[in-house]
Amino acid sequence: MCSGGCAKCLGITLIPLAVLCTLANILLFFPGGQVAKQNDHITDEVWYFGGILGSGVLMIFPALVFLGLKNNDCCGCCGNESCGKRFAMFTSIIFAAVGFVGAGYCFIVSAVALNKGPKCQTGMAWNYPFENGNYLNNNTMWSTCTAPPHIVPWNLTLFSLLLIMSGIQAVLCAIQVVNGLFGTICGDCTCCGCCGVSKRVFSSWDCSN
Ligand SMILES: *[C@@H]1O[C@H](CO)[C@@H](O)[C@H](O)[C@H]1NC(C)=O
Repeated sequence: MCSGGCAKCLGITLIPLAVLCTLANILLFFPGGQVAKQNDHITDEVWYFGGILGSGVLMIFPALVFLGLKNNDCCGCCGNESCGKRFAMFTSIIFAAVGFVGAGYCFIVSAVALNKGPKCQTGMAWNYPFENGNYLNNNTMWSTCTAPPHIVPWNLTLFSLLLIMSGIQAVLCAIQVVNGLFGTICGDCTCCGCCGVSKRVFSSWDCSN
């Protein structure tokens, strides 16, 4: 249960997700795959940088911390064999929480963007022709948008991917919060063959030897 190995595989999964979320957000800056003629032709939620900042940059730190957990030297902290490892697991809780907030931000922005629909040209004006997700199950409405071409499936696909991937990231970070709590309490017991805090509390073993 208290394994750094578990944290490592979470870290390995988070990195490709962070890269894909960043890419999806970048693609959203090119509505319908084209360069927008004006910045205000781009859907507002794209400018919230959910995929780039929330699920991208903020996720790199927890991912790297999780990756490093398995290789942490647990035997050199203040003469206490397990406290280095426990401290690492404790730190990972903080980073997991940061990752959870970042992924949650991306998840909420994506959900709002899907509900609101894309900004597009309707007649002469640029606005949001849809409301409350009414375009999601009626694709005859999509022709309301005359430009950019394919803007509705473009935004729909990319924001849906962001929603799914940031949801997975949030779950993985939540798992690491729990994993880190166990690691902090048990001191990742297998590491040095040394007793963790639970054994120290519940038995009279001398851990400093
Ligand atoms: C889909 O949208 C079109 C155009 O707004 C509308 O005429 C039609 O009634 C809608 N169909 C459904 C099933 O809501």
